[in-house]
Amino acid sequence: MTLQLKGTTALVTGASSGLGIAYATEFARRGADVVLVARREDRLRELADRLGSEFRVTATVISADLAAPGAASALKAETDARGIRIHALVNNAGFGMHDDFIDADAERTAEMIDLNVNALVALTREFLPAMVTARSGVVVNISSTGAFQPCPGMAVYAATKAFVLSFTEALSYEVRHSGVQVLAVCPGATATEFRQVSGLHAERMSESGSQTADQVIAATFKALDGGRKGSMVSGASNKTLAVLTRFVPRRTATSMAARVLS
Ligand SMILES: NC(=O)c1ccc[n+]([C@@H]2O[C@H](COP(=O)([O-])OP(=O)(O)OC[C@H]3O[C@@H](n4cnc5c(N)ncnc54)[C@H](OP(=O)(O)O)[C@@H]3O)[C@@H](O)[C@H]2O)c1
Repeated sequence: MTLQLKGTTALVTGASSGLGIAYATEFARRGADVVLVARREDRLRELADRLGSEFRVTATVISADLAAPGAASALKAETDARGIRIHALVNNAGFGMHDDFIDADAERTAEMIDLNVNALVALTREFLPAMVTARSGVVVNISSTGAFQPCPGMAVYAATKAFVLSFTEALSYEVRHSGVQVLAVCPGATATEFRQVSGLHAERMSESGSQTADQVIAATFKALDGGRKGSMVSGASNKTLAVLTRFVPRRTATSMAARVLS
């Protein structure tokens, strides 16, 4: 089974960088129009121009700070006003913070929860009902392998991703007969601007052990094409780690994560 996307529209958050650019590009390559959302409008416009000319799709740019209150309902109102029906929602925008909890800036920590958790839930609430009514659609929520164990040094970030994983797997079950495919994607370290934004200097998380954004997108679409629902982990070594984590005591998994992030 291959996901049929021609003539549909995919909304990708965090489309100004990294995984978001790669997701938007793959949807466009498969013939879907795209709505590109992030704060840096210049980057979104550049991507929209490229996708429009390369794949002959309509690429709409909506610049928005999704951590701001009311951002999700404003985005839904904007797509409605433009007559755009969203068939696929990719909740990809997110960032991490590498610091001990008590040393991290409190406002930035709250902003991370607002973006990684609250905006993702609010956007899903805004766009999912029409998909269920239409009995077709796709929701992809970006979690992380950080969701599988506590991560000292990135305690709140890992907790937001654990939330995304749990929420998405439960939601996927709730709508399992609706014709809507709901999937959490758990990438491990991926070469994007994430490390720089998060202030991650951890030597053990070297770029050489990272996946590329294109590898994560290929794994995601292989799962979607295969009808996968619930969750998936990108990359063979990440899958192995995710399984191993289940079989070691929680304290051991926590101290292993602390060593990787130190
Ligand atoms: N890279 C990794 O190692 C890795 C591993 C596991 C999971 N992830 C997850 O993958 C997702 C994508 O991250 P990435 O690796 O592609 O990082 P990235 O290159 O830093 O991209 C993050 C995207 O999020 C957007 N964003 C940040 N704050 C925003 C806000 N307030 N409102 C709207 N958009 C905002 C950024 O756009 P603007 O700055 O233009 O707003 C950017 O487009 C994130 O959810 C991340 O947690 C990444």
